[in-house]
Amino acid sequence: MCGIVGYLGPRETVGVLMDGLRRLEYRGYDSAGIAVFHGGKIEVRRARGKLRVLEEAIAGESLEGKVGIGHTRWATHGRPSDDNAHPHKAGSIAVVHNGIIENYLSLKKVLTESGHVFASETDTEVIAHLVDHFLREDFPFEEAVRRALGKIKGSYALAVLCEKEPEKLIGARNESPLVVGLGEGELLIASDTPAVLNYTRDFIFLEDGEMAVLSDGKAEVLDLEGKRIPREPKRVKWNPLMAEKGGYKHFMLKEIMEQPRAITDTIRGRISEDRSEIIFEGLDSDGKMVKAINRIALVACGTSYHAALVGRYLIESLCRIPVEADIGSEFRYRNPLVDEKTLLVTISQSGETADTLAALREARKRGARTLGICNVVESSLSRESDYTIFTYAGPEIGVASTKAFSTQLVILYLLSLFLGKRTGYISHTQMDEFIGELVRLPHLLEEVVRGHKEIERIGRKYVHAENFLYLGRGINYPIALEGALKLKEISYIHAEGYPAGEMKHGPIALIDREMPVVVLATKDDTYEKVMNNIEEVHAREGRIIALASQGDKEIASKVEDVIFIPPTVSLLTPVLLTIPLQLLAYYMADFKGNDVDQPRNLAKSVTVE
Ligand code: F6R
Repeated sequence: MCGIVGYLGPRETVGVLMDGLRRLEYRGYDSAGIAVFHGGKIEVRRARGKLRVLEEAIAGESLEGKVGIGHTRWATHGRPSDDNAHPHKAGSIAVVHNGIIENYLSLKKVLTESGHVFASETDTEVIAHLVDHFLREDFPFEEAVRRALGKIKGSYALAVLCEKEPEKLIGARNESPLVVGLGEGELLIASDTPAVLNYTRDFIFLEDGEMAVLSDGKAEVLDLEGKRIPREPKRVKWNPLMAEKGGYKHFMLKEIMEQPRAITDTIRGRISEDRSEIIFEGLDSDGKMVKAINRIALVACGTSYHAALVGRYLIESLCRIPVEADIGSEFRYRNPLVDEKTLLVTISQSGETADTLAALREARKRGARTLGICNVVESSLSRESDYTIFTYAGPEIGVASTKAFSTQLVILYLLSLFLGKRTGYISHTQMDEFIGELVRLPHLLEEVVRGHKEIERIGRKYVHAENFLYLGRGINYPIALEGALKLKEISYIHAEGYPAGEMKHGPIALIDREMPVVVLATKDDTYEKVMNNIEEVHAREGRIIALASQGDKEIASKVEDVIFIPPTVSLLTPVLLTIPLQLLAYYMADFKGNDVDQPRNLAKSVTVE
């Protein structure tokens, strides 16, 4: 995720900005930049790479000024480069931005036609040009920003500077956090409180659709109509480490909780306004690729492999194209049947997993077309694939993958709809229905996240168990695997995921009072069968924790504990089931006192085979 810092006050501005950016460093980023009002104009310095590169670039310069903005970038639109790094400048405006502008292409077109020249591939630059456009129409700075925001669709946290009003700093927020810090005779802006916690503990937390105008030693909040909104500052009690984790005890918990946001960002801009199309800019633009392929191979490792298993189910259901899902290290050594009629889809959070990359290279050698699903722009996977679809989960710091997984599921759902439309298998009405459910998903996830206390209670109850079984059927079977993997890797409790139908072929022998069994029992085509499996476990005194659809009264009498999830189409149920399982693993690991964010023997990115 990108980070923003802004400063207006008597200190040495560059020092404050660099200090703030350094405090955001732990989240990972690919480029950084600052803009300072110096010597009558805005000076911008940007550099691809670590903050050190920017530090070296400005070392020895005396960029004095009382106002400035800074940014660390985690690339979404446009690869990491000096030109794509923020701040972006247009005329007398400089902007830093977090988020995604959905309608940037149409805005860019209009602005280009009216003479604006763009210097980057980013969506952000459109904001700078839009504000500049209104300034040129003689609107004052504040009004120009307000008018520009009226044209923008999407998510943003912004900080804007203007050469014409150098004593002013403007911030704005929509679906991406922004805070205003009120110091002693100084004002700050930040996407995250840790960036400026050294200077103040008094903050105004902007709400969606609000702007903050910082000048004359005070900060005013206004809505997009220009109406002033009285807002009392709040005192933040977090210490800097807690603040980095957004007040959560661990990054993993923060990352679980932010999944509704991560999924909103991942969907954003990928659905046409009339909900009839999935937009993956440039993918199969001539319609030849989908026509040419006769099979799809999904390849990944670990948690990402579980996403691949869900993907197989989704693509086969929605497109009727044969799909295989393989583990990276297996695919490569089994002389796979791959040729130019194969679309190889690799899935990886990091884009650096050695086994996945080796599979990609092997498939390329055999002539396959390649598509990557990845969370890191400019990773090896994205550079080596013909096309990459990015999950906009933001940096994942906890070693156990959480938000990267759920966003991968969402991309696979979108990809299935995209392919289904092209193969003609999905009707217009179905498309409308599937997209409608997808759009509701973040709200449903928020509901699930709100139920965390009950999951914590269940976690506490079973924390002494030595073994766990996770059962699921159909599209939920990979989620049973994923639930078991999460539990083993962070709580060190032995757990196995199984297709529920396989129970009687062996694992049933393990069932007794000591064996908690997590059963994924949402209402879908497999419900009756799963209920039979529940009876089987019940009859052998197994302790059942069921994940069931809200309103299912029958199940409660058969099991020891139930976690309810809101109903949706069965193809999206895996996303909703994932969160309670992540939380269950998290709470159990935390009760055991484990190092949740850095479990023993594990690395975030496995770059060796
Ligand atoms: C489990 C986990 C790992 C990764 C696997 C692949 O929580 O994080 O199993 O999923 O190492 O990593 P990526 O997705 O980066 O290729």
